[in-house]
Amino acid sequence: MLHGFIIQDDGRIVKPFFVLIANPVYNVGQSSGRTVVRSFHATRSFLTHAIRSLVETLMKSLSQLLQSIPPSATIAVNDKAKALKAAGRDVISLAGGDPDFETPAHIVAAAKAALDAGDTHYPPSRGTLAIRQAVAAKMRREYGLEVDPTTQVLVSPGAKFLIYAALSALLNPGDEVIVLAPYWVSYVPLVILAGGRPVVVDLDPANGFAITEAVADAVTPRTKVIMVNSPNNPTGHVISADEAALVRELALKHDLYVLSDEIYEKLIFEGEHINLASLPDMADRTITINGHSKAYAMTGWRLGWAAGPAAIIGLMAKLQSQTVTSAASFTMAAGAEALNGPQDAVEEMRLAYKARRDFMVPALNAIPGVECRPPAGAFYLMVRFPGLSDDSMEIANILLEEAEIAATPGIAFGQAGEGHVRFSIATAMSELERAVERIEKLMAGR
Ligand SMILES: Cc1ncc(COP(=O)(O)O)c(C=O)c1O
Repeated sequence: MLHGFIIQDDGRIVKPFFVLIANPVYNVGQSSGRTVVRSFHATRSFLTHAIRSLVETLMKSLSQLLQSIPPSATIAVNDKAKALKAAGRDVISLAGGDPDFETPAHIVAAAKAALDAGDTHYPPSRGTLAIRQAVAAKMRREYGLEVDPTTQVLVSPGAKFLIYAALSALLNPGDEVIVLAPYWVSYVPLVILAGGRPVVVDLDPANGFAITEAVADAVTPRTKVIMVNSPNNPTGHVISADEAALVRELALKHDLYVLSDEIYEKLIFEGEHINLASLPDMADRTITINGHSKAYAMTGWRLGWAAGPAAIIGLMAKLQSQTVTSAASFTMAAGAEALNGPQDAVEEMRLAYKARRDFMVPALNAIPGVECRPPAGAFYLMVRFPGLSDDSMEIANILLEEAEIAATPGIAFGQAGEGHVRFSIATAMSELERAVERIEKLMAGR
């Protein structure tokens, strides 16, 4: 028996039907703008489309929440970059956020030892006590902040999940979350997924994307959370003491929670990291999000931690226990070693990123029609190409098609990122040198 469909010219299914067949190869008939598909072999892709359409037509509708999540503006360029690479083109990728360094050997050794010791079973859902104690010791050592490892720390498979868990713990439907733009691409979708309403506040590139008093204008009676990310992805901005004071003032005045994403804290070239939770009166309303991905080059291990008020961490832990259960057992042995052990590798990587920044920024600014401000932290450059376009998708497309360089269009980080493309300098120096040569050539031809 063959399943058949009556399909309109636009591919929508009008009526499904079944026919008994002896030979599956026959033709396609046409009647008054409708196509009766009778040949499986001749119309395979047509049928694939039709089956998808049938599923959509006949089944109950899918999650409106997930369908409301905006598609990633980075996908188009990344797909194109992949297609060019697959076609054998020598594409230099500056689009990622993954350190090009290996995880330091002593951290890998700790995971191997844990595996050899049989640490392969369900761990405590909140994370092993050892890693939670390592987080608490770090918070005390580096910020003078006391957090109880048994109630105030949660270890999860990655900081991204922790941001989702924190927002889920804080928000009721319709609660507003202030998201400062340019923002990391996942912030807005995560707020929506957690049932909140993102209120995006554009920061000004002219003053280095600093947080200003204008943010207060976005506060309404529904505002519950402000998200801060310092050092920032994508701008590289590191908040000053004045900006931290401003966030604190806003939070205290309007009774807001602060979600402080500090995942790039170890990658600072100028200035000092400020842990917002350790400012006076902030511990009760601040959730610190951090993780191993960037500082320890551990993106694939999926390991991050949050510290904050016990009631909030408790709800986050409940979400974790009912969804992903826990981080993977033996990764946490490595994670504890990363936090407790020698930090030389972290410093070596920071210096390497700094050297790359110090090469790239003047090299790019020396090219007519290209502008780049030096970031104070993280491992990204926001680059403008007034000599090409103000449209970040167009710049990214030109870079890809004419210079074979994959970059992330600034619009992916919100309207405030428009006009820029983001280059990742978590990329080998030799690749960065080649990228500069290609940009020189591209701009010389303009
Ligand atoms: C600002 C920021 N926060 C959080 C994350 C998530 O890190 P992970 O889930 O790998 O711990 C990233 C990753 O790129 C990031 O850039």
